[in-house]
Amino acid sequence: MKPETPRPIRLKDYRPPAYLVDKVDLDVALDPTRTRIRSRLSIRPNPDATGRPAPLRLNGEHLELAEIALNRKPLGKKDYKLTDTELTIAKPPAKPFTLEIVTYVNPEGNTALQGIYRSNGVYCSQCEAEGFRRITYFPDRPDVLATYKVRIEADPEEAPVLLSNGNPVERGTIKGGKRHYAIWHDPHPKPCYLFALVGGDLASIASSFRTMSGRNVDLAIYVEHGKEDRAAWAMDSLKRSMRWDEERFGREYDLDVFNIVAVSDFNMGAMENKGLNIFNDRLILASPETATDTIFEHIESVVAHEYFHNWTGNRITCRDWFQLCLKEGLTVFRDQEFTGDERSKTVQRIIDVRKLKTHQFAEDAGPLSHPVRPESYIEINNFYTATVYEKGAEVVRMIEQLLGAEKFRQGMDLYFERHDGEAATVEQFIQCFEDASGIDLSQFRLWYSQSGTPELVCALKYDKTKKTAELEVEQVLPPTPGQPTKKPFHIPFKIGLLGANGHDIDLRLDSGEEVADGMVSLTKRRQTFRFTDVPSRPVPSLLRDFSAPVNVTIDLDDDDYELLMAADSDLFNRWQAASTYAIRTLVEIVRILGAGKTTSRGQRYAKSLRAAVTTDGLDPAYRAELLKLPTQADVARVIGKNVDPALILRAHKQLQRLVGRTLGDVLEDFYKDLADKSPFSPDADSAGRRALRNAALTLLTARGGKRDLAMLAKHYSIATCMTDRAHALYLLANIGGKEAERALTHFHDQWKHDHVVIDTWFAAQAQSPRASTLKRVETLTSHPLFSLTAPNKVRALIGTFAAANPVQFNRPDGKGYAFVASQVLALDAINPQIAARMLGAFRSWRALESVRRAQARKALQRIAKTKTLSPDVKEIVSKMLEA
Ligand code: BES
Ligand code: ZN
Repeated sequence: MKPETPRPIRLKDYRPPAYLVDKVDLDVALDPTRTRIRSRLSIRPNPDATGRPAPLRLNGEHLELAEIALNRKPLGKKDYKLTDTELTIAKPPAKPFTLEIVTYVNPEGNTALQGIYRSNGVYCSQCEAEGFRRITYFPDRPDVLATYKVRIEADPEEAPVLLSNGNPVERGTIKGGKRHYAIWHDPHPKPCYLFALVGGDLASIASSFRTMSGRNVDLAIYVEHGKEDRAAWAMDSLKRSMRWDEERFGREYDLDVFNIVAVSDFNMGAMENKGLNIFNDRLILASPETATDTIFEHIESVVAHEYFHNWTGNRITCRDWFQLCLKEGLTVFRDQEFTGDERSKTVQRIIDVRKLKTHQFAEDAGPLSHPVRPESYIEINNFYTATVYEKGAEVVRMIEQLLGAEKFRQGMDLYFERHDGEAATVEQFIQCFEDASGIDLSQFRLWYSQSGTPELVCALKYDKTKKTAELEVEQVLPPTPGQPTKKPFHIPFKIGLLGANGHDIDLRLDSGEEVADGMVSLTKRRQTFRFTDVPSRPVPSLLRDFSAPVNVTIDLDDDDYELLMAADSDLFNRWQAASTYAIRTLVEIVRILGAGKTTSRGQRYAKSLRAAVTTDGLDPAYRAELLKLPTQADVARVIGKNVDPALILRAHKQLQRLVGRTLGDVLEDFYKDLADKSPFSPDADSAGRRALRNAALTLLTARGGKRDLAMLAKHYSIATCMTDRAHALYLLANIGGKEAERALTHFHDQWKHDHVVIDTWFAAQAQSPRASTLKRVETLTSHPLFSLTAPNKVRALIGTFAAANPVQFNRPDGKGYAFVASQVLALDAINPQIAARMLGAFRSWRALESVRRAQARKALQRIAKTKTLSPDVKEIVSKMLEA
């Protein structure tokens, strides 16, 4: 922990590094509590730096410095200055020199899981964003690119497998076989955050890939012994990703080997270290019995994401951490495109937009709102956010929408050609698209600097005699922290007008211009589009394919929604109409219940849903999306203020029950007809059938009848795959009672030996909206399988309770907040990065009704006044409490 209050880092203060490091030679002797790192750096003054001669400043934290020598001459205490965070040499040579440094670290004692640590006995590293400074003294910033040669030495029994970045060079034994070593060389200059090493007793599966130019690449995935058969899906996903990047973006892999290592304790999902990706094992290991279809899908997309970073992130990296969206937003865009190509484009778009709205829109509406490219930060780990990732991906997608697929690809090609081997900026990225297309993106750049979700307030006026339709659009840009007023955005707005029969009407503007693909550009605060030759009053289908990350409001009636849900040629918007209609209905129910009255509202919605979901020619996966009601969080977000989560849950249950009853026959047919008789296959079609069947089951059991409960209990007990089993377990846990306890005990006994699968058991209990949940979760924190030092356990139990159980986290008595606050504080002493993430669950606290708001404030203030907070937690909690 840093003693003094850290000052914010600002984008406008960026200066090029005073010194460059061309070569890094590392010699690491692994030891559980005293690992030695000998580093030899080839350093030279940066010819592009300003204000020389400058001191050499190296970052370093939690290090024991043992030796330091400049040009082979040992330095004395007076030759450098050492603090808790920096090593400074006041006057280094003005020409190239070498610096040798020996440090010691303690992997076993490293609970923050940054730098070198041990997970289940395996030595591994995590350097992004600023973990390399916990290994050795170094200019730990992404614009210092060096080639690395790494020698790792270890006890061959403890760590027979020794891996680092790049290609293997040599291995051998020393000290009569008591130690062994491996040498790795990475020829591609990289920033230190992409450095990685692994040492452990691991099993592996191997395969190979022939690149488009005919080179052979050896692929391997390292896992715990006995888990080899669960790595096949990840390997398959890797090979498909490699092929896809060649075919879609012309990008070929550039080393002789590509290794993936799965570890149990990992702060994030996975990390793209050059040639040596390290994964949280829950995103590698999958078999039909242990993993749900959702996990299979995540594995596929995360393997792809980390692989795609090889070009977007590694070959072209970020100049500074403010440019994080340059690699993350772009790579999320690429992995979304990959999944869309591998599976269903529409379903993928629905899943991505749902995620964007749940996480990013909520973030952007609260105290943590920030631009896709933030302008200042205290702890960079706090900025791996939904905004940087998800909105960052949407911004890239908008560029594609504005340019068209062909010009977009030319812009990407230019980016790869122009900036390969460099640390780039968002400006340079945008410039490539302007240069490739000739389109002016100056106004578009505002998407990177202005925060908040724009609202497009729309109205449609039809003139019967002139046969014209006028669409008025106003950009309403809500104030966000530090940004009271805003300029209008450049927004690609894809629209359609449906005639009475539901067919698209040709869009012709009164200027005579045809609107190709329904794409119009919004650039002004208010704009009106007047369409001619419109035979009858049309129904507008707005923001087709979710062409921009905005909210749209327009006054439509029940008939309009029904038409859009049944007939919109844009399948995404059919789903969007169903979702908007459901939310509108739920908001109405909440309002009525809140006034102390009862209502049977929802009949019209249920009728429209029946028509939509039984329309011919739809994939099961798509039908499943239609049947998933908006979440309680969706409703809370739309209500926006004075939110009462208990009322929302009541409304939600009521509408679910009504839909279950009204569509009972249809749902029962789905459930019966889609029962899988063939062996499990993780492909998208099979997964879609299971998804539809489980979505039907959710609604059927919401009816609450005895037979429904029996069907659910049976669904659990005869399940042959984890998709069905976990789905039933969650539903049972929601209901509670004997059947639920029986299933939970059974699940526990079956999976208590598997640290990945048992997380489903923790999460199922934590998400239950029942009043007893908090007690249960508290008790589970002392379960022998739970541990605050294991991030996956924390996420499964505390994270699920805080982020996926709106009613019990937001208890009016404040006990949910108090519990999470205590856990955050306990965790902060162990792993600040994870503690700060858990705290994110409070991000919408200001939107709550007054009783809960006061309770939440109390919990946040208790955290804020704690003396020993990490910068991570301190930054988040102070933002949360800022007016
Ligand atoms: N580079 C990140 C991992 C990372 C994040 C390291 C934060 C250090 C701090 C990686 O590429 C990533 O984005 N991983 C995601 C999954 C991805 C599919 C969005 C993750 O870990 O959640
Ligand atoms: Zn990433």
